[in-house]
Amino acid sequence: MSADSISSSASGGSRSTELASVLSLDDLGAGYRRLRLGAPAAAAAAAPGQFVHVRVPALDASAMRRPVSVCDADPAAGVLTLVFKIVGRGTAALATVREGDRVDLMGPLGNGFPLPPAGAEVLLVGGGYGVAPLYFLARKVLDGRDGRDGRDGLDGRDGRGGIHLFVGGRTKEDLLLLDDFRALGVDVRPATDDGSLGTKGLVTAPLDTFLAERSHGRTVTRSHGHAVGPRIRRNAEPCDRRTVLYACGPAPMLRAIDERAQALGADAWLSLDRRMLCGVGACLGCTQVVRDGDATETVRVCADGPVFPRGRIVW
Ligand SMILES: Cc1cc2nc3c(=O)[nH]c(=O)nc-3n(C[C@H](O)[C@H](O)[C@H](O)COP(=O)(O)OP(=O)(O)OC[C@H]3O[C@@H](n4cnc5c(N)ncnc54)[C@H](O)[C@@H]3O)c2cc1C
Ligand code: FES
Repeated sequence: MSADSISSSASGGSRSTELASVLSLDDLGAGYRRLRLGAPAAAAAAAPGQFVHVRVPALDASAMRRPVSVCDADPAAGVLTLVFKIVGRGTAALATVREGDRVDLMGPLGNGFPLPPAGAEVLLVGGGYGVAPLYFLARKVLDGRDGRDGRDGLDGRDGRGGIHLFVGGRTKEDLLLLDDFRALGVDVRPATDDGSLGTKGLVTAPLDTFLAERSHGRTVTRSHGHAVGPRIRRNAEPCDRRTVLYACGPAPMLRAIDERAQALGADAWLSLDRRMLCGVGACLGCTQVVRDGDATETVRVCADGPVFPRGRIVW
C-alpha cells in the first residue's frame, strides 16, 4: 500500500492529498456502499466529523471532488472507511471502483465534532448516511473511556454516560450500520417513515420519548401543535449539562435537534450537509448565515464547519 502526499495548510482541515488504494467495496443494499481505502495519511489525521474530498476515478479529471464523511479510521492499519449513497453521477461512478484501484483524496477537511466531556451522556441523531460520522465519533468516545464502559448504553457507575443512537430513514433499508453501532455497545433506537423498523415516524419521535423519560421534572410540551421536546418547568432543576447531542442528516432534522437542545440547555453539535465545490474555503460555494452574538455573519461550511454548535445556524 503506497501513498503520495502533497501538503499545504488550510483552515478547517488539511489540503493534503493522498492517492488511496481501494481495499474493498461492499454493497449495503438500497444504493448504499461501504468503501475501505488504504490511506495511511488520512487515516492517521482524521477526526470524527471530518470529511475527505474525493476525486472520483471514473469521471473526467476536471470534474469536482465529492465530499464524503469519514465513517472510520484505523491509523495502525492505515485504513479509512467511507459509507456513501448513490444519488447521482459522482457517487454512481464511485460505486464502480474495484479492489486495487487508486482514489485521490483531499483531507481530512472540516472542523469535526468536539469530543464530549468525560462521563457525559451522548445522544447521536442520524438520518440516512448521516450516521457515518456518528459511528466514528461513537468509537472514539468509547475508546477514550476506561474499560470501554459505555457498553449497553450505560457507564456502569451512575447509569449515565452511555451512548444512544436515534437513527431515522424512509424505510429499514435506509438505516445503516445498526449492527456496527450495537457491536460497540451503543443503545440503538430506530425510526422509519413507513414503520418497517422501530418507531413509525420521524427520528425525533424516539428521541422525544427518551428525553421525556430522562427529564425528571421536565415535561414534553407542544407549540402550535408541534412537539418541541422537553421544556424545563419553571421550578425544575436546571438542565443536565452532561448531556451532549450530535446530529448529522437533512436540514429539517438538524433544525429540530437544534430547537430541542436549546430548550434543554444541552450542548449540541450539528453537521451540515451542503453541496461543495472546492471544499477548502476558496470558492464561497457553500456559504451559511450564522449568528454571531446579536449580529449575523456568513461562513463557509467546508472550512468553518461542517460542524456548528447549537443556536448558531440561522435556519
Ligand atoms: C461534509 C459532507 C459530508 C458528506 N458525507 C457523505 C457521506 O458520508 N455519505 C454520502 O453518501 N454522502 C455524503 N455527503 C453528500 C455527498 O457529497 C453527495 O451525495 C455527493 O456529492 C453527490 O454527488 P453526485 O455526483 O453523486 O450527485 P449529483 O449528481 O451532484 O447530485 C445528485 C442529487 O443529489 C443532490 N446532492 C448533491 N450533493 C448533495 C449534498 N451534499 N447534500 C444533499 N443533496 C445533495 C443534488 O442536488 C441532486 O439532486 C456529504 C456531503 C457533505 C457536504
Ligand atoms: S466549497 Fe468552496 S468555499 Fe466551501
